[in-house]
Amino acid sequence: MLAGKHILLIIGGGIAAYKSLELIRRLQDQGARVTPVLTKAGAEFVTPLSVSALAGTAVHQELFDLTSEADMGHIQLSRSADLLVVAPATADLMAKMAQGHANDLASTLLLATDTPVLLAPAMNVRMWEHPATRRNAETLKGDCVSFAGPNEGSMACGEFGPGRMAEPEEILAAIAARLTDGPLRGKRILVTSGPTHEPIDPVRYIANRSSGAQGAAVARALCEAGAEVVFITGPAAVRPPEGVQVVAVESAREMEAAVQAALPADAGVFAAAVADWRVASASDRKLKKSKDGLPVLEFAENPDILKTVSQMKEGRPGLVVGFAAETNDVVDNATAKRKRKGCDWIVANDVSPGTGIMGGSENAVTLISEDGAEEWPRMGKDEVARKLAERIAAALAG
Ligand code: CTP
Repeated sequence: MLAGKHILLIIGGGIAAYKSLELIRRLQDQGARVTPVLTKAGAEFVTPLSVSALAGTAVHQELFDLTSEADMGHIQLSRSADLLVVAPATADLMAKMAQGHANDLASTLLLATDTPVLLAPAMNVRMWEHPATRRNAETLKGDCVSFAGPNEGSMACGEFGPGRMAEPEEILAAIAARLTDGPLRGKRILVTSGPTHEPIDPVRYIANRSSGAQGAAVARALCEAGAEVVFITGPAAVRPPEGVQVVAVESAREMEAAVQAALPADAGVFAAAVADWRVASASDRKLKKSKDGLPVLEFAENPDILKTVSQMKEGRPGLVVGFAAETNDVVDNATAKRKRKGCDWIVANDVSPGTGIMGGSENAVTLISEDGAEEWPRMGKDEVARKLAERIAAALAG
């Protein structure tokens, strides 16, 4: 996904700087080249040696460094990359950027650059919520700077709230989205995928035959169209696509919590084959054979994630797309399902064993919307995904 891309990574002074080391590795795993810049404050948290060793190249620290000025120069350094990423972006760095200061290497690079910039802010919650930082964030957004995070959570300083730096995985997804030019650029889309596992006891579970192939293909197609994708997947047989933010879950209830945490989003695609039921009281010990007879499992209903999101009063994604796995009366059942759940579209497919669709590489779907049912010819799951991504892009643009 990021093969051949060049990232200039500015590491600011914050406790979250250690996560930037992991970010370097993750970027390289995706084929990107990373040129690191460490601010003076950043060097209080991570050492230049660890940064350069991981990046496999020298770390830039000084504005007036004769060697690099003769060699490259800070102006050229600021323009040689495809993207400038600041992680952690401190309140101070944001203030400097918003005001156009250029009094050290990082701020000078950020002012001299003509390439896109992405910030991963990290600071104390009060600092993030301070009117000065709010103003600076708005100014920077107006200057087309994009943001990954910050997240909400407990912080190193002991307080709780927004200000925690986004995880490397999330920053990676934001980088991929920012570097991909496509009709979904700037859109955040969540995708659920794969089966869920519902525990019976610590070693046994109830599952289904979903491979996660269609959901992964949808996530990949959305990402290739420029969207920032949060991919919430149960234990699937296929690997998640590159460039998306992966949230791995096991059960339906974990999936629901992950979906809620990933909102707000511009669209949601619910391709997961979520188990409708779970074992009401899963045992925390392995069930043993007993002379008293066979164990009896009682079931409880799982939350319907698609329905819950479709019927949200506030914060509902602008477009909610469900899937319907049916074995008979596909269009009638799926049309009724769309109404019952309240989603905008349903991608219906026939999963009866003879079709080879569940677990296979092809799909034959009917797209059901308010306007009726549109039958698509049988095609590869990748092609279904690309076609769906095109439709989603058109809907979100309209
Ligand atoms: N879905 C969900 N949460 C559930 C069950 C289903 O989000 N607990 C979503 C699926 O991801 C899919 C859609 O709802 O997008 C339809 O799933 P499907 O299994 O076809 O329908 P069910 O609601 O399970 O209905 P039924 O089993 O009666 O066909």
